[in-house]
Amino acid sequence: MKESYYCNPAICCFLFILFSVSGSVHGRHDHGQLMVPCFFIFGASSFDNGNNNALPTLAKANYLRMGSTSLQGQRGAEFLGFDDYIPSFASTVGGENILKGVNYASGGSGIRAETGQHAGARISMDGQLRNHQITVLRLINRLGQNESAAKEYLNKCIYAAGLGTNDYVSNYFLPSLYPTSRIYTPEQYALVLAQQYSRQLKTLYTNYGARKVALFGLAQLGCAPSVVASKGATNGSACVDYINDAVQIFNNRLKELVNELNRNLTDAKFIYVNVYEIASEATSYPSFRVIDAPCCPVASNNTLILCTINQTPCPNRDEYLYWDALHLSEATNMFIANRSYNAQSPTDTCPIDISHLAKL
Ligand SMILES: *[C@@H]1O[C@H](CO)[C@@H](O)[C@H](O)[C@H]1NC(C)=O
Ligand SMILES: *[C@@H]1O[C@H](CO)[C@@H](O)[C@H](O)[C@H]1NC(C)=O
Ligand SMILES: *[C@@H]1O[C@H](CO)[C@@H](O)[C@H](O)[C@H]1NC(C)=O
Ligand SMILES: *[C@@H]1O[C@H](CO)[C@@H](O)[C@H](O)[C@H]1NC(C)=O
Ligand SMILES: *[C@@H]1O[C@H](CO)[C@@H](O)[C@H](O)[C@H]1NC(C)=O
Repeated sequence: MKESYYCNPAICCFLFILFSVSGSVHGRHDHGQLMVPCFFIFGASSFDNGNNNALPTLAKANYLRMGSTSLQGQRGAEFLGFDDYIPSFASTVGGENILKGVNYASGGSGIRAETGQHAGARISMDGQLRNHQITVLRLINRLGQNESAAKEYLNKCIYAAGLGTNDYVSNYFLPSLYPTSRIYTPEQYALVLAQQYSRQLKTLYTNYGARKVALFGLAQLGCAPSVVASKGATNGSACVDYINDAVQIFNNRLKELVNELNRNLTDAKFIYVNVYEIASEATSYPSFRVIDAPCCPVASNNTLILCTINQTPCPNRDEYLYWDALHLSEATNMFIANRSYNAQSPTDTCPIDISHLAKL
């Protein structure tokens, strides 16, 4: 068999949705001005721009970079007016380049600490928050030990968080490796995830001054080619319905969490990005001609995830919903990022979209 970057469906990096909008997206910023001074990113592989490269793990951004979906979190910064990439935490060792924000995302990571452990090293949401604490201390230091000046600055930034995918695909739906599906029903699991996420987000608010926070929901994980190939679609559906059902239970919890946080923390604004619905709508756009197969060749009938190396991807990648057997294509990610920034339907984001969040 040809060498391939082995990752079974549950393994890594569900490089999901995110935030990738190219410089050509209409209305990305007004008059070339920065919409916000800084942008901090927490998430998994869809946002990982290098934090995993130094870790012993299969879930590495530099593997994905071979494909077209690399650096999505980075490019997401562009629509807020940042010309340069937001640096990965791993590249901010000296603390020189932290003023525009930092990307903490780590492929394979989750809300829960154990999520993704079978795939190797990764930085969970708690670890990402600890790294953010280091950044905040560096920032205070740079501002002459003036803590209130640092808080004031941190209040103006946008914080994007996109965790949860791996808590399903690299935890709950891997019963041979993780016990969670025997401990919790899908309803209970969504609740404990939301409670833990809530504590993490309140840490971001209380300790580190976050006031503008965009939470990205989960996509239809049950429709990814690798998930369908390994679990089998059911009842004539093109997708694995019980996985999509579980994902929607979590998404609904996340939406409730956003409402609750906005009620309780009135000097902050949290928003929910309905990735599930936006990506579902993408499948009915004629420009996405292939919605159930990866653009690049993936070994073992798509039960692996990443592109087989040294093989040519499809020539018309913009017509594919998926890049590999799990990760959405750059075209799909642009579609989602576009609508998260400028909502085109009332269900795309709630209560407001990112362009309005930036202007608050
Ligand atoms: C700290 O920063 C605040 C806000 O920028 C400023 O008003 C204050 O004078 C600064 N304090 C010191 C000790 O420099
Ligand atoms: C198929 O659908 C029926 C009715 O909704 C349901 O009871 C059954 O569990 C489903 N089967 C599978 C394998 O999902
Ligand atoms: C919001 O406040 C209520 C009442 O104090 C509390 O019960 C609830 O847990 C809080 N929710 C969040 C997400 O902080
Ligand atoms: C791929 O699927 C085809 C048809 O379902 C089957 O004949 C073949 O053995 C499978 N190959 C592998 C490597 O699983
Ligand atoms: C973003 O949405 C606008 C319509 O609101 C559309 O004109 C534009 O082509 C979209 N861009 C991308 C990259 O999808």
